[in-house]
Amino acid sequence: MKVIICDSKRQIAQKAGDMIIKRIRENPYLVLGLATGSTPIPLYQYLVNNYQNNKVNFENVISFNLDEYLDNNDQMQSYRYFMNTNLFDYINIPIKKTFFPSKHNYKYYDELIKQAGGIDIQILGIGRNGHIGFNEPGTAFDSKTHIVKLTDVTIKDNARFFNSIDDVPCFAVTMGLNTIMQSKEIILIATGKNKATAIKQMLDNYDVNCPASILKNHQNVTVYLDNDAAEFLTKKE
Ligand code: PGA
Repeated sequence: MKVIICDSKRQIAQKAGDMIIKRIRENPYLVLGLATGSTPIPLYQYLVNNYQNNKVNFENVISFNLDEYLDNNDQMQSYRYFMNTNLFDYINIPIKKTFFPSKHNYKYYDELIKQAGGIDIQILGIGRNGHIGFNEPGTAFDSKTHIVKLTDVTIKDNARFFNSIDDVPCFAVTMGLNTIMQSKEIILIATGKNKATAIKQMLDNYDVNCPASILKNHQNVTVYLDNDAAEFLTKKE
């Protein structure tokens, strides 16, 4: 696991973005695994800017999102809406090649990914409790795409996007930890002090109580941190 500590969110977006752009130039049919949340927004803005300046072309790229709410009454809070308004509406990826897990496809989402050739680069954030996607603490390391009941920590964290905490859906569908581990390359981004403990736990443990710690078993992971998220790291790589 390679850990890169950056001075700003902008620098992370640039470094991670340049890596993705390079991969798309090498392989225009790249399969991207995408994440929602506040963390990847600067990265998506960087990709949009580069698309607008003709530095990258998404016309043959395929994407699979990590997760999506179930039984969500507010479509503007769906992860599909988030991806459309933060990335897809501003680049030339064909919308029909952007996939999300759902209650209809979750049983064969892993198979869909496989048929597309597998995920070349998966982008991940991390929850305060160490979750990746909606794989909450205790999720089996061999899990495939599945339906989950969200923990109180996650519901509380996600309430900031809703009018009230009661509007946050209690269920979601997520790629499993094994699904994520099948990706050929993984970029995990964490920014802010509220992620520092999860990052420290991820690097120190290998334990279902910190789902992100499974990534230590992956051959090709780059972790981008700002100084706040790296606060508790003793050995800076
Ligand atoms: P955030 O969410 O980027 O909004 O902090 C990350 C996550 O919960 O995985």
